[in-house]
Amino acid sequence: MSDLDQVTLGAGDKSVTLPVHTGTLGNPCIDISRLPKETGCFTYDAGFTATASCKSAITYIDGDAGVLLYRGYPIDQLAENSSFLEVAYLLINGELPDAKQFEAFSHDVTHHTMMHEALKSFLNGFRHDAHPMAMLCGSVASLSAFYHDTLDLNDPEQRRMAAVRLIAKIPTIAAAAYRYSIGWPIRYPRNNLDYVSRFLHMMFEVPSEPLELNPVVAKALDLLFILHADHEQNASTSTVRLVGSTGANPYACVSAGIAALWGPAHGGANEAVLKMLEEIGTPDKVESAIARAKDKESGFRLMGFGHRVYKNFDPRARIIREMTHKVLGELGVDDPLLEVAMKLEEAALKDDYFVERKLYPNVDFYSGIIYKALKIPTEMFTVMFAIGRTAGWVAHWLEQQTDPEAKIGRPRQIYTGADTRDYLAIDRR
Ligand code: SDX
Repeated sequence: MSDLDQVTLGAGDKSVTLPVHTGTLGNPCIDISRLPKETGCFTYDAGFTATASCKSAITYIDGDAGVLLYRGYPIDQLAENSSFLEVAYLLINGELPDAKQFEAFSHDVTHHTMMHEALKSFLNGFRHDAHPMAMLCGSVASLSAFYHDTLDLNDPEQRRMAAVRLIAKIPTIAAAAYRYSIGWPIRYPRNNLDYVSRFLHMMFEVPSEPLELNPVVAKALDLLFILHADHEQNASTSTVRLVGSTGANPYACVSAGIAALWGPAHGGANEAVLKMLEEIGTPDKVESAIARAKDKESGFRLMGFGHRVYKNFDPRARIIREMTHKVLGELGVDDPLLEVAMKLEEAALKDDYFVERKLYPNVDFYSGIIYKALKIPTEMFTVMFAIGRTAGWVAHWLEQQTDPEAKIGRPRQIYTGADTRDYLAIDRR
């Protein structure tokens, strides 16, 4: 805890003393809300890399130490001991559930997994080759049209039910989007299966034969959902909060988060990593890939490397790297891309360009190799990320709804356009 409680800023002939907020952990934050009034100045921070947008008790990251806590619990302990649904409860409620609380939450989620039949025709409106993230983003936004009983944001029970519905239905919609894209009939959720097995059943069960669920696959996917569940004020979560700050309904907020996650600089990186590894192809091409990544003119980046906050190993990447070897071993999968990935990681971590810039593998670097081994198609990788991150998105949305300091998000700018000028008639231009 820092003992810094105020700072004084000199601005020309003016001087202003600003309060400093300090949380349980992390950097002290200077409250600049009085700055414009007292000095006439705004602050500039492209990408908000040094700006706290809110106070939150959900997740803490220490980028230098490579620490990630969900409600105070270290990610490696949750990965080792918990389940995705238990982590979703923890993120939303702030405490691990006791047996009765978990049973009630699990029952609620299990009994809200069906999607409205009309959503099937919504999906049928897409081309078969539509990216599943397009179908997920559109379908989730449409949920507000089906569930009018969870749109009164002043009612805590309606807010809670919206969160439960999103966690429950997103795997159903994701699997339906996949089945639609390959021309298979949609599979209804089975209540006798756990959260992840139910999703795998909806993804892969075909009418002609029963699906034999592999516990190794279910366990691996559950762990990946835990690791992707939340990550503080990342781009997609900040998007959910910004949309939420206008009073938009939770389905619209999460749909906006899905759209933000889609970008290759964010959640779309896992799909981009696999395409990059396939493009590199063999370990002997790794050196040339490293050289391209270092050449600014090439426009090529090592996808799955670098992070806005982690300037050390992403703790999730460390867990996923170990898991990759275990899962591929247990499944008897020998993927040559794993050797390419390991060679790429080894070469980058020894190269000054990456070391100086503190670029380490992030959560997306190895996850695609596991998804591939689990027979998840590449274009569904970011959808997997979205399923896990929905727990974090709804937890942040719920936290924002009762935050007394929450206000509509409205950043300012540095205006670089034309100064005031008069209109000229066209014949005088
Ligand atoms: C996620 O915020 C979160 O928490 C996100 C996330 C979550 O759980 O929500 O963790 C999930 O989005 C992980 C990141 C996935 N994205 C990728 O793997 C895409 C590849 N990575 C980069 O595009 C980049 O590293 C970012 C976007 C992740 C971070 O960008 P920053 O912090 O803005 O870094 P930067 O662009 O300012 O780069 C700093 C330097 C630059 O070189 P210089 O100008 O100093 O010479 O590092 C270079 C960059 O060119 N650089 C890279 C690189 N990433 C940064 N060079 C080569 N390959 C890379 N991957």
